[in-house]
Amino acid sequence: MTKEKIEKLIAQLTLQEKVDMIHGNGFFTTKGVERLGIPPFKTSDGPRGVRKDFENDAWKDIGLSYDYVSYLPCNSALAATWNRALAHAAGGLLGKEARGRGKDMILAPGINIMRTPLCGRSFEYMGEDPYLVSEMVVPFVQGVEENDVAACVKHYAVNNQETRRLDVDVDVSERALREIYLPGFEAAVRKGNAKGIMGAYNKLGGTHCCHHDGLLNQILRKEWGFEGITVSDWGGVHDTKEALMNGLDMEMSVTSDFDAYYMADPLIRMIENKEVDKKTALAKIDEKVRHILNVMNLLHMLDGERSAGGYNDYNDKAILRQTARESIVLLKNDKGILPLDRKKIKKLLVVGENANRQHAPGGGSAEIKALYEITPLLGIQMLLGGNTEVVYKPGYYNEDVGNIWANTGDSENGQADSLNQDNGTAQVSQGALEKQKRQQEMNEKYLQDALLAAGDADAVIFVGGLTHDYDTEGQDRSDMKLPYGQDRLISELLKVRPDTVVTLVAGSPVDMSAWLDDAKALVYSWYAGMEGGIALAEVLFGEVNPSGHLPETFPVSGKDCPAVVLGEYPGGDKVSYGEGIYVGYRYYDTFDVSVAFPFGYGLSYTDFVMTGIRAEVIEDTAQGKSVKVSFDISNTGSRAGAQVAQIYVADKYPKVKKAAKELKAFEKIYLEAGETREVTLMLEREAFTYFDEESHSFKVDAGSYMLLLAKNAEEIVDVTEIEFSV
Ligand code: BGC
Repeated sequence: MTKEKIEKLIAQLTLQEKVDMIHGNGFFTTKGVERLGIPPFKTSDGPRGVRKDFENDAWKDIGLSYDYVSYLPCNSALAATWNRALAHAAGGLLGKEARGRGKDMILAPGINIMRTPLCGRSFEYMGEDPYLVSEMVVPFVQGVEENDVAACVKHYAVNNQETRRLDVDVDVSERALREIYLPGFEAAVRKGNAKGIMGAYNKLGGTHCCHHDGLLNQILRKEWGFEGITVSDWGGVHDTKEALMNGLDMEMSVTSDFDAYYMADPLIRMIENKEVDKKTALAKIDEKVRHILNVMNLLHMLDGERSAGGYNDYNDKAILRQTARESIVLLKNDKGILPLDRKKIKKLLVVGENANRQHAPGGGSAEIKALYEITPLLGIQMLLGGNTEVVYKPGYYNEDVGNIWANTGDSENGQADSLNQDNGTAQVSQGALEKQKRQQEMNEKYLQDALLAAGDADAVIFVGGLTHDYDTEGQDRSDMKLPYGQDRLISELLKVRPDTVVTLVAGSPVDMSAWLDDAKALVYSWYAGMEGGIALAEVLFGEVNPSGHLPETFPVSGKDCPAVVLGEYPGGDKVSYGEGIYVGYRYYDTFDVSVAFPFGYGLSYTDFVMTGIRAEVIEDTAQGKSVKVSFDISNTGSRAGAQVAQIYVADKYPKVKKAAKELKAFEKIYLEAGETREVTLMLEREAFTYFDEESHSFKVDAGSYMLLLAKNAEEIVDVTEIEFSV
């Protein structure tokens, strides 16, 4: 449909019809205009798959069979693959199933920066580095949108904690905003061509992000040229006039009095009562409708042939399995304990409740009604077949403690109450305290049982970590400690069996200090999707060589985090991001703070040598000046594998305060045993810029820059230097 035809449509719409298009008329849909062939606009969560369907105006699971879907690895898992092609494939799968389910927009991906490891939604996001996030979000969005479904990149912006998420007022410097918190969104818009952006619940500089003129009108539309739809987070609108004027296109919420939404009847009344200039108001409403119709048009909702979607063919399963495989991070492997040799193991003990737990149904709006979910225990059992006796002991007792999104009794789903909650850090009620007491008693019994079984097993694998009681929407963790008495259990197991393989399934960093020195083999897996259990088994038994790298620093403890040391977390009504640009490794590196595992870290069963970094400034590329960086990489071990080569840039004589170094290029390189390859990567001008708060723009200072070839943020293997000017 041409732009002229869209304008004609707008001209035929009544004010009421237009207003009906810009607010929810169901929890996940707007109203269409049947007489003009405009369909309703249907959305669905979310990052890990297409969420189950609810009744239109009640938070009741429709409970039918037609909304089972693929459960994808969570976004932090996806980021841990450092594989752009997998991000594209995962986005494609999500988009395809969203279409199969008849959706127009998928409320994903989540890309807020991990400012604190305690943020309950870290698992839905892509880690702590704006460059890594940008590189992963672009192919993901493109994958979704190739299926005639809009992505809705969320939550714009600075939604970095769940504590008081609905109202907390973020105070952040313009520089940190531009360098750390916005680049992922900018890339999604400018390079990924995202058709949707979701405003965040919180405030920025005193104004709610869902109707923030600076964020929506000035930066998103004017600067980045966004032509898609801005959607509020559910219940994120607080003011009709601001929503009208400040760039919000579609208001969604969790309550069923749809006509009472800010951009529904109150908007019409405001015009009738002349509380706003009528001409301006009508022009603004037209603009919102125009954005919506433009996207509908691009998705072929108004005419043309639209993709039908579909799901779960053989290829989809391979994508899910491969993503899970490549996300798993080998953190320690002293004495080459891993991979385990299945031929030598007649009796295997698997300890830990996460071995036997399915995670798809939890986490808040990221919950998934999965077609299936292979647990680690099932994966291990299936891999070893009938040749090994697999004994399972839970080891600790997990009685769900504080999941505020679990069924509450008052409503079918916690989302109904989500606007009334005091989103503090994990709230411990009287009932929860009693549960915890019961849990402690049970833990002791389970622990003894596991220790006894460890004595006569040929190998012991522990699978613990977190659950969606902790990695969840609506609350942060109160500390980084492992719950359910796991520290004690792991320490005791390691005493009985020093070769115990410790495996953690979680969506965010945990404090391992109680037993880290004693553990020889340590594997970190995420909520890795429905094929996650088999992928983990393949890694443990060497069918797959691990190649995941951390997308975020694992600090020793939550107290070391820059948000706490230099800034504020969780703050009060306000939270000051006093650490500025020093987020994640930018802080640990620059201020020389030891961490448990650095950003970008991940081991392999083979060895890689990277040398010979050389760089050349290229004067006349289409984008201006750029730098060509080359190096050689060899797989010197005895099996095929992949290494993520990372290039960090360090300004040798910075004129303003800068981080010691910043990631500016990476590539995941697959090599056969003994293979050597020359790799070339390009650094564009952006790799050398910083945000200058005086001129309010990105700037390059001419001078010497070090280019660091690294295996992770701590392990630099080679360095070269260039002179770069604008
Ligand atoms: C979440 C969003 C989600 C929306 C719709 C909100 O509570 O913050 O991420 O897309 O609900 O379920």
